[in-house]
Amino acid sequence: MSLCSATMSSPEAPRPAYNPRMHQGGKLSFRSRAQGHDDDPGEFLVLGGENPPSLRELAPVGHAHLEIEIGPGKGAFVLAATEARPEVFVLGIEAAPGYASLAATKLRQSGRTNGLFLVDNGKLFLQDRVDEGALAAVHVYFPDPWPKRRHKGRRFFTDEVPAVLARALGRDGYCYVATDNAAYAGQIARVLGSSPWFVRDEHEEARVQAAGPGHAFSPTNFERKYLEEGRVIRRYAFRKAGR
Ligand SMILES: C[S@@+](CC[C@H](N)C(=O)[O-])C[C@H]1O[C@@H](n2cnc3c(N)ncnc32)[C@H](O)[C@@H]1O
Repeated sequence: MSLCSATMSSPEAPRPAYNPRMHQGGKLSFRSRAQGHDDDPGEFLVLGGENPPSLRELAPVGHAHLEIEIGPGKGAFVLAATEARPEVFVLGIEAAPGYASLAATKLRQSGRTNGLFLVDNGKLFLQDRVDEGALAAVHVYFPDPWPKRRHKGRRFFTDEVPAVLARALGRDGYCYVATDNAAYAGQIARVLGSSPWFVRDEHEEARVQAAGPGHAFSPTNFERKYLEEGRVIRRYAFRKAGR
């Protein structure tokens, strides 16, 4: 495990590599904001590297309710969720180190300890670093749509993802998704909706939206931007079907 706290708190110490190596097998090359000079994420940022720690190693003992956000960007959802729901531990897994560092710095400054950011490929982390049934929820807000045909394989919601999510989620666990991209929304609804492991739960979609900030669908940076542009946002809550 490669914690930044040792390197980031001292001004003379080297900053974490801008493009650290990722979870073995994960070829990720994401653009990211450059490391900011005020960033000091302390122990709230973990660089996963080729052999990232497991969720069990990352989450403090005592949090029965564990959630993951894949691709938190600048961290708005994790920040709101850790504030609104102190009983929940939220791990944000972000492929772009610069964003993860910014988000982790904000979390450190908040004084809350029920969250953490990890630089890694979220799909690979779910596959082999999360115990079966360990999660209450997985959040994916405004996943990169990769519109070019040759890049479609880079999307998060590919055909193998329902099985990956179903293994990591506990009974009645949820996958919450929001996107502005109509084509990708269709793919997500098809991939999750046609799988034997998930059912769409429209009551839950209404419930969490009414629950307000810090609950699922809490506004993220991309959502704010897209709403200002007048884009239509599609939001889905898929519940793991009891088996
Ligand atoms: C369009 S941005 C959305 C950020 C944030 N969710 C929001 O709504 O403001 C997508 C983010 O997902 C991250 N990302 C894409 N694929 C990922 C993966 N496989 N694992 C972790 N992060 C990923 C990108 O680096 C980027 O920060």
